[in-house]
Amino acid sequence: MTTRTPEGVARRVGVESFQRVIFSEADIRVRVEAMGEEITRHYGEGTPLLVLGLLKGSFIFLADLVRTIHLPLQVDFLVASSYGADTVSSGEVQLLYDPDTTFRDRHVLLVEDIVDSGNTLNRLVPLLRERGPRSLEICALLHKRLTTMETEARWVGFDCPSEFVVGYGLDHAENFRHLPFIGSL
Ligand code: IMP
Ligand code: MG
Repeated sequence: MTTRTPEGVARRVGVESFQRVIFSEADIRVRVEAMGEEITRHYGEGTPLLVLGLLKGSFIFLADLVRTIHLPLQVDFLVASSYGADTVSSGEVQLLYDPDTTFRDRHVLLVEDIVDSGNTLNRLVPLLRERGPRSLEICALLHKRLTTMETEARWVGFDCPSEFVVGYGLDHAENFRHLPFIGSL
């Protein structure tokens, strides 16, 4: 029988220099559900939402989050440039994929995996505001609290230590996104 411990999972997916689990599967499940409830309450029953995930990092978080939001909603995605194989932000943000979905007069909820330098969101939010959404809010699973953003995330899952973290959608050089927990390298 294969072990389901974080150490066992990490070893089998090829993490060599894995430090520790920061947020367990159970921690994440509980927190995501609470966020879904807060979001549902904030917009109010029957309010239609456009949930816009920033790929690739948000894909698992978004998939879990939307199932805890009890409102009519649609899902779309944006792709902004990533760090590549580097663990330090290059300071440049490019839109590599931009949906056709109209934002005009809609409540848009931008879902991000992690706020690090805040650079991605600081550049993205003004671009999206130009498209005339009725409201634009940010929901981030993790926030390193290294910076205050021009538009701060209304919902944050966890404050994250200033370490490079992987799992639950977050990668290092495209690896480890599928870890069910979040750990540091
Ligand atoms: P920011 O623009 O510096 O806030 O960084 C945002 C993006 O960098 C996130 O969406 C992640 O894709 C990536 N990133 C930042 N910190 C980490 C980390 O600790 N692990 C994995 N990806 C990270
Ligand atoms: Mg990334």
